[in-house]
Amino acid sequence: MSNETTETTVQDEKGAIEQKGAVEETSGSVAVVDGAGGKKRKSSNSRIAPITSEGDMPQKKYYRQRAHCNPLSHNDNFQYPLRPDKMDWTEEHYPGWEKYKPSGTTADAVVPTVLDIGCGFGGLTVALATILPNETILGMEIRAKVTEFVRLRLLALRKEVPGSYENASVMRTNSMKFLPNYFRKGCLNKLFFCFPDPHFKRKNHPRRIVSERLLSEYAYFLAPGGKLYCITDVKELHEWHVAKCDAHPLFERIEDEKVLAADPCVNAMVTETEEGKKVARNKGDKYYAVYKYRDDLVQNGEREWQMESFFDTFPEESKE
Ligand SMILES: C[S@@+](CC[C@H](N)C(=O)[O-])C[C@H]1O[C@@H](n2cnc3c(N)ncnc32)[C@H](O)[C@@H]1O
Repeated sequence: MSNETTETTVQDEKGAIEQKGAVEETSGSVAVVDGAGGKKRKSSNSRIAPITSEGDMPQKKYYRQRAHCNPLSHNDNFQYPLRPDKMDWTEEHYPGWEKYKPSGTTADAVVPTVLDIGCGFGGLTVALATILPNETILGMEIRAKVTEFVRLRLLALRKEVPGSYENASVMRTNSMKFLPNYFRKGCLNKLFFCFPDPHFKRKNHPRRIVSERLLSEYAYFLAPGGKLYCITDVKELHEWHVAKCDAHPLFERIEDEKVLAADPCVNAMVTETEEGKKVARNKGDKYYAVYKYRDDLVQNGEREWQMESFFDTFPEESKE
């Protein structure tokens, strides 16, 4: 799989893949100038961004991209493995794995264990690399330029402090569609959903990244005792997260304030993401919830499966 994806690939919104070059800002899309200076596409009001060499820290202003997309109709030509065992994570994502993994670990045992889903510019992905040195962190992001920013950011950080950030990487994908292609049952310890797109309109609620159906998928990938973290500045979305997770038989909310305070990931999720920092600057509120994956509750008969646990219901009024 990793052989199929080149290191400096830039993919535009139409899905065409171009390689190696300066990224040119146009109105909402990415154009590419090749290394020899020959322009592939041009926009009259465009500005040329300098090439960020691998190892240099990228500048965010050159990697901004239109904020919202429809993840249900976003049919960009994503590359993905047929099944998880076809994926080699060591080559492209965690090349330094031998330095931080215990001796005896084989390459095929190197898989992500913590996902920052919809990682944006990667603030949490970067922070988790240090907070969880024994975990393997993966930021997942649907926007091409933003993903490229995080990739370059991590390379620059690795260069700055040799040996650091080897356990963090980023991947461009639509996580609402392709998680089963990448991950095996029970392989994840933590899942983060930080400031996900709220998709306010009722007819767009199926685009939300926390839903009954997806929670069942997330439960499948989590190891027993694994945790799901969600945070937002939109109260209504927080209430949606809590309602969906509370209703799911495989998740139990962690309410004990002492337990939450002792978890450094909670503080990181509140303070380290770019969106979280923006909310703090604007003195806005943040609402979060943490859930534990409890397969034992169903096995012991304390909770019951219901069809609603697996399928989203679409009430008539949602079809407006
Ligand atoms: C509002 S931003 C939050 C970014 C980051 N978590 C933060 O807190 O700064 C939501 C991000 O999720 C990404 N996203 C939305 N749907 C996605 C999907 N299906 N798969 C992967 N990323 C997605 C968006 O491109 C966007 O960068």
